Amino acid sequence: MTKPATRHLITSAIPYINGIKHLGNLVGSQLPADLYARYQRGRGNEVLFLCATDEHGTPAELAAAKAGKPVAEYCAEMYAVQADIAERFGLSFDHFGRSSSEQNKSLTQHFAGALADQGLIEEVEQSQIYSETDGRFLPDRYVEGTCPNCGFEDARGDQCDNCTKQLDPEDLINPRSTVSGATDLEMRATKHLMLRQSAMKDRLSDWISSKSDWPVLTTSIAKKWLHDGDGLQDRGITRDLSWGVPVKRGDADWPGMEGKVFYVWFDAPIEYIACGAEWVDAGKGTDWERWWRTDKGADDVRYTQFMGKDNVPFHTLSFPATIMGSAEPWKLVDYIKSFNYLNYDGGQFSTSRGRGVFMDQALEILPADYWRWWLLSHAPETSDAEFTWEAFQTDVNKDLADVLGNFVSRITKFCRSKFTEAVPTGGEYGEPEHALIADLTTRVARYAELMDAMEVRKSAAELRAIWAAGNEYLQAQAPWSTFKTDPDQAAAQTRLALNLIPLYATLAAPFIPDAAAKMLAGMKIEDAGWPDDVPAAVSQLPAGHVFEVPEVLFAKITDEQREEWAERFAGKRD
Ligand code: MF3
Ligand code: ZN
Repeated sequence: MTKPATRHLITSAIPYINGIKHLGNLVGSQLPADLYARYQRGRGNEVLFLCATDEHGTPAELAAAKAGKPVAEYCAEMYAVQADIAERFGLSFDHFGRSSSEQNKSLTQHFAGALADQGLIEEVEQSQIYSETDGRFLPDRYVEGTCPNCGFEDARGDQCDNCTKQLDPEDLINPRSTVSGATDLEMRATKHLMLRQSAMKDRLSDWISSKSDWPVLTTSIAKKWLHDGDGLQDRGITRDLSWGVPVKRGDADWPGMEGKVFYVWFDAPIEYIACGAEWVDAGKGTDWERWWRTDKGADDVRYTQFMGKDNVPFHTLSFPATIMGSAEPWKLVDYIKSFNYLNYDGGQFSTSRGRGVFMDQALEILPADYWRWWLLSHAPETSDAEFTWEAFQTDVNKDLADVLGNFVSRITKFCRSKFTEAVPTGGEYGEPEHALIADLTTRVARYAELMDAMEVRKSAAELRAIWAAGNEYLQAQAPWSTFKTDPDQAAAQTRLALNLIPLYATLAAPFIPDAAAKMLAGMKIEDAGWPDDVPAAVSQLPAGHVFEVPEVLFAKITDEQREEWAERFAGKRD
């Protein structure tokens, strides 16, 4: 077990700015991070939960060009879109920042300066394609031409899409600029900065080896990159683009680096830190350094990162290299929770082909809780997972409508019809009630252990079992039958069952926050508090406590809906 902490710094991998994310992206980082943040807050711990948009690099430039907009304008628009969808999905970031912020710009330049001061940055001469017409060096993806391997005429400078051969732009026959179509290209000498990761290999390797409690998925990817093939190579951290963080050494100009920006993967993780500064500058917090600087109080912070497996190398090696290499007391990550992929109905989710369900579309057809529950309860932790409409319909109908929703509506409606909309008086708990409370005590403790360990699927399964225990109790004790012969006994049964609603709401809130809020609102209790003591937690609604039958929590997904949605999302996103 990890030692309990009271302050949790939590970050989700920051999504690229170009386009709306699909459900596979969501379940691989933002959603489980939100689950954990909500859980930790529910336990009464102090949480700083940060995310942002990843706005630099060629993908942003190309997407803006495609949209026919200046890149800054495109990013501002897409940021607003992503922030809105995140909010509607219930992603409870303390701040949702932007990697193009001023805060990130200066922090990125600061890190580059600190790394240079430590002798970890090397300037290298390279020859690179220069376009006279465009007046700039062209990154690989900005050069196209004929593939020397297969003759395909639109091969890109990094790869031929026809024969998949990896290329260098100078291999292309009749190369041209994709910016202007210009063919007056030439090789020119230019300087770039390399981060000497190889010099930090031992430190990184020792650090990774010390993380014996990390998920195997995380450490196996990290170790593979550390030890296989060429090991940890030095990495180019500058690019010839106009959109990005201008290369500077701290506040100072960097001779020879005019017109260049830092590589997007250099500045993006630094945004985790800068986002804290944005949070303060937005007036939401007062001191970000107590979360991020170990010399300013962050040494008792527990920092957890969430991400898909493709992001693991950057978070286990590159970003730690930046932090360690700076020789400054920045907070290093304590735990990296990584995920496999979620596939879509027999294939892959695909942003470029518009295959699958995207976050905005998901909310058009069902409220967030349905998605949150299904995605989290099927989180791709130990292997890739698959979304199918059949499984989605079956699981949501069963878990949310038949088990949880039915429990809440059945007992509240029964109470209203036979007693009043108030917790009934009379009777006493007997053997079945004590047995249920004992069972729930064990299960709640187990649930907390699983949530602490970020075992997402197992936590969902335990939560489902906790709901089912209430349903089974109700089924077996049948207060509607008891009522006919022993109304007092029925009152006691009803009292206990009603008291399970706030308990269920509190436990379920990290997964399904909207339904949990409705349950609490219906039972007229603001905050039930974490049930450290289950017997006490299920006595919170005393006899006489007035409530209101909550509105229907979950509607069932019909076969017609399922068929319609399966068809609608099979093809290309319009
Ligand atoms: N934008 C990247 C992706 O979606 C993730 C960046 S995470 C960070 O794969 F560490 F760079 F911030
Ligand atoms: Zn080819």
